[in-house]
Amino acid sequence: MADSSSLPTQEIVQGLLESPARIAPKYFYDAAGSLLFEEITRLPEYYPTRTERQIMVAHGVDIAHRLGSGATVIELGAGSCEKARELCQLIAPAHFVAVDISSEFLHDAVVQLRDALPDVDVRALAADLTADFTLPQDLPRQRRLVFYPGSSIGNFDPAQALELLSRMRGLLDDDGALLIGVDLVKEVAVLEAAYDDAAGVTAAFNLNVLNHVNQLIASDFEPSQWCHCAFFNVAESRIEMHLEASVENVVRWPGGQRRFARGERIHTENSYKYQAQDFVRLLNQAGLARTEVWSDDRSWFALFLARP
Ligand code: AVI
Repeated sequence: MADSSSLPTQEIVQGLLESPARIAPKYFYDAAGSLLFEEITRLPEYYPTRTERQIMVAHGVDIAHRLGSGATVIELGAGSCEKARELCQLIAPAHFVAVDISSEFLHDAVVQLRDALPDVDVRALAADLTADFTLPQDLPRQRRLVFYPGSSIGNFDPAQALELLSRMRGLLDDDGALLIGVDLVKEVAVLEAAYDDAAGVTAAFNLNVLNHVNQLIASDFEPSQWCHCAFFNVAESRIEMHLEASVENVVRWPGGQRRFARGERIHTENSYKYQAQDFVRLLNQAGLARTEVWSDDRSWFALFLARP
């Protein structure tokens, strides 16, 4: 059997040797990357977090009314658990499970959440959503709410998104629901500014993946030789983030190396932007047939409540 500790190494090396090279976006989130992402969510240009919160403030009571109290909430990609706190205050669940890939970050967030929500059974699960993960055995199956905010679904291509939504459906009985935040298509200038902010925080977030990769595979990327690059690909309806070599350089790791020409790129992230009706179609294909949607005044972002 393969040693599971070598799997990230294999995956990263394989991506670096592809043409064009790629690094999966899950590697953004070491401790420094998670903090940089938190900073991104507060940037003036990065509208998704703020807009999703506005929708929750405007329609939270309505949403809570549909869900009732005493549910079991499973938040995927929980991060700082800030959104979970607001949701839990609205719907008073019995159980809350925060699932996130960054275990260090998750641990601190869950400790704080337990203090804020003494009546809720709060648990943490460090897991990679792109692989199968197992929920605690004693977690009730009835009245589960899978909460996937922040448009993280946009970081998967539509086929992977369908697979992930189908797995979420698999966590639910017929009385369960999925509450999911989705970023919508809008003016290109607004989209591009959100992924290339004036203060350079998104650039630092993108470049930090090289430090994390250096740590994971013992490579010698020199981040100062790389530049942040982000643009909207209209045909694919996605923001693409890349790292572009500003000088020719050779990156070495134990057992391998790759030469990058000046201007050559490493693809680090896609962030798909949906039309609301296309996302409803995806939910339906995943076996979530009953859908309701709430949006903001400009229709920039949407919250979908979907049930089997
Ligand atoms: C986590 N995810 C939804 C963010 C996004 O908007 O795609 C990640 C991000 N990348 C750059 N800025 C934010």
